[in-house]
Amino acid sequence: MGTVVEDELLSSSVIKDLHILDFDYVPEELPHRTEQLRRLSQLFKPLLSRIAQNAMIQGPVGTGKTVLAKKFCDSLVSVARKQGKIIEYVHINCRKRSTDSMVLLGVLNHFDPRFPDRGFSVQEMLLVLQKQLQKREAQLLLVLDEADALIAKNGSNLIYDLTRFTDETMKTDNPVSVIMISQKDVLSELDASALSTFKRSNSLLLNKYSRDELFDIVNQRITLAFHPNTVSSQSAELIADIASQWGDARFAIELLWKAGMYTDELHLDRMLPEHVRTAKAETYSVVTETKLKNLGKHQMLTLLAVAKRLQKECSAYVNTGEAEKTYAISCEEYTEKPRAHTMFWGYLKELENAGFVTLKSSGKGQIGTTQLISLPDIPAAVIRDKLEQLLK
Ligand SMILES: Nc1ncnc2c1ncn2[C@@H]1O[C@H](COP(=O)(O)OP(=O)(O)OP(=O)(O)O)[C@@H](O)[C@H]1O
Ligand SMILES: [Mg+2]
Repeated sequence: MGTVVEDELLSSSVIKDLHILDFDYVPEELPHRTEQLRRLSQLFKPLLSRIAQNAMIQGPVGTGKTVLAKKFCDSLVSVARKQGKIIEYVHINCRKRSTDSMVLLGVLNHFDPRFPDRGFSVQEMLLVLQKQLQKREAQLLLVLDEADALIAKNGSNLIYDLTRFTDETMKTDNPVSVIMISQKDVLSELDASALSTFKRSNSLLLNKYSRDELFDIVNQRITLAFHPNTVSSQSAELIADIASQWGDARFAIELLWKAGMYTDELHLDRMLPEHVRTAKAETYSVVTETKLKNLGKHQMLTLLAVAKRLQKECSAYVNTGEAEKTYAISCEEYTEKPRAHTMFWGYLKELENAGFVTLKSSGKGQIGTTQLISLPDIPAAVIRDKLEQLLK
């Protein structure tokens, strides 16, 4: 009895350090965010002369807003420390702490973990904060992550109070700087007084990652988190392809993590594209039963051919020529007459439009319009099973 548990628990893993695939892990380098780090450094340089600055980081899901802020703030704190200056960096997630007092409580807990969570008004807490900073001869760098949640609930009072904090109470002794992060444009939701302290020019827009950028990010994680040579390069290519639909690095890392877990479950020593497809199928799938049923017979046979090839060759892509040969064989199996090349090509295009396959040009100087077909959304084995049942 005990041996099953023991065997599984002690079985080897392709993953060297699972912790590196956590969402809150901050890697040493951030590929494709160097310019943004440079820009933040320029914006916040005045802090080294004890002058407060504010900024806004905006961008779609998984574009590195949180990790960029963490990396930048940690670096700034350590550069300042070398100059004997104390910057207290506090990162608050406003989705979790969505009122003014909960945010301030989070800030005060940074200085005193036992600060009571009841009995103090916002104004009183601001005074406590001031005392804490004075006592430490420090300045505060506060990141309000997912700030839209706070503004939706409590408006911009706290942001106003914090940014005015410096002007009124202590001049330049213990300045408070704020970085707001949001997917949305929260500046337009600030009222005039808060906005006046938050200069529009201080906003940083992050774009969705391109496919190639995601590829670099995925490869960095593979190097850091996996044992050498346990992830095939096609797996990394496929993860980047899939995630590029959203430009979301979190999704890419989640796929990598899930595909790694799946590889371990099968007790294999190498991750292949099929494991990535399985991970994707568990995450989100546009290939539903109903959509499959609604396909015409020859579209089904075309898709079946693609699935068979990908499954057999354990590869991320199959080219159109190979797929067409297998299509002809499948047609015979189901006593259908194979259609001409232009028709076959049309079926592929339809499958692409419906989200079943993706097509990209091979770019390898082959004759004609050779395209590489991949199946990003569902494991080849699963789609094959389903189609074979439907075609029976
Ligand atoms: N340039 C990058 N290099 C390495 N890892 C990155 C990079 N950008 C993002 N990541 C990683 O991708 C994941 C998502 O990034 P992050 O949490 O910063 O996104 P976000 O923009 O804050 O998303 P959300 O809007 O959902 O909060 C994290 O695990 C992060 O470490
Ligand atoms: Mg975030």
